[in-house]
Amino acid sequence: MTARLAILISGRGSNMSAILHETQEGILKNLAEIVVVVSNVCSAPGLDIARAAGIPALCVPSEGKKRQEFEKELLNALASYHPDYIILAGFMRILTPYVVHHYPNRIVNIHPADTSQFKGIGAYKWAFEEGLEETKITVHLIDEGVDTGPVLAQKTVDLRGATTLEDVEERGLAVEHTFYSEVIRDMLTGKINIQEIKS
Ligand code: GAR
Repeated sequence: MTARLAILISGRGSNMSAILHETQEGILKNLAEIVVVVSNVCSAPGLDIARAAGIPALCVPSEGKKRQEFEKELLNALASYHPDYIILAGFMRILTPYVVHHYPNRIVNIHPADTSQFKGIGAYKWAFEEGLEETKITVHLIDEGVDTGPVLAQKTVDLRGATTLEDVEERGLAVEHTFYSEVIRDMLTGKINIQEIKS
């Protein structure tokens, strides 16, 4: 059965685009489909990319709203698309247990660092300023904490010789764009066993 993915974004949407490509003609073909893209920022360029591809793309604005009010609207928007998994791709909002418990072990995030080393936003800036020779991309499940959920997989990014933050980001994103779909594939095919990772 094809898994129904809802993708949550806040901006550019390059990871969403990469996953979309893989569902259409790559490693996620016949395994997963994107049923909706939701952004909490209405001007997010990723929404236009999704619309151009014929995918329902909604804005549920978070600005100026209490967290619970926003999350209620978000869950309402998602419900009619019956997603199997919620895929966070540059979604820059913390989700509270209210949402997390609604989709237990079904919310996945990509974080551009080793979550045990660096949590929160600005991970590439951190790697650049620390002068790291390598950093890691982490794909993990969302739990009640911020970037604390069980790790599904990690991949190393070689930063040797990177002289600018742009260079660091470019190398990191190149890894993110293939790695995220690979981990989603492995999760859907059972190669990565969520129950084993959780225990
Ligand atoms: C990506 O680098 C993603 O890993 C990061 O935001 C960027 C979104 O780019 N996510 C986080 O930092 C989450 N804490 P995109 O919109 O082009 O996919």
